[in-house]
Amino acid sequence: MEYKLRKAEPRDVPDILRLVKELAKFEDMEDQVALTEKELLEDGFGETPFYHCILAEIQGEPSSDGPKVIGFAMYYFTYDPWVGKQLHLEDFFVMEEYRGNGIGSEILKQLSDLAMKTHCRSMQFIVAENNEPSINFYKRRGAEDLSQEEGWRLYRFDEDSLNKMAAPTEE
Ligand code: ACO
Repeated sequence: MEYKLRKAEPRDVPDILRLVKELAKFEDMEDQVALTEKELLEDGFGETPFYHCILAEIQGEPSSDGPKVIGFAMYYFTYDPWVGKQLHLEDFFVMEEYRGNGIGSEILKQLSDLAMKTHCRSMQFIVAENNEPSINFYKRRGAEDLSQEEGWRLYRFDEDSLNKMAAPTEE
């Protein structure tokens, strides 16, 4: 199957949001996607990009408008005070009809190259515990389950909690 991988550009924002939603739907959480194209554009392509994307693209049918984006990885850099720079893989998705053609593996290869070039010590990601095919996909490539092996749990302060903590105390 012919495809190419490339860095996302501002014009790709509608496709990025489409794929974000498709992955959320796959995870049965589509209703949680609150982000808009405007925010994605500002956050990914402003002065300080908060995320980056690699896109997988095919040429598309001759009758179609042109190339079609069929998969993506959204990632950003983070920091671990014990070991230093890390790559965080946030979203990773290939449309169902194009899976099993090596596109996901090639995206991981590019991300691994990037991690090595930027001297990252690891690439981390969060996977839903019921997403067995994907867990197996990662494990076959050497990923460790940190919750199981090191006992880490993922916590979050939502906006309400943040507001409460941030609110000025009344005298
Ligand atoms: N569908 C899926 N996997 C298949 C299929 C198929 N129809 N046919 C074969 N496979 C096998 C392949 O043989 C391969 O096995 P391997 O691990 O032994 O190499 C593996 O499944 C797929 O390898 P690739 O073709 O390189 O990867 P693909 O292009 O299918 O992309 C991905 C992998 C992104 C995980 C894709 O399956 C997907 O989008 N899954 C649904 C969404 C998902 O779970 N995303 C990850 C969530 S976690 C996160 O985002 C951090």
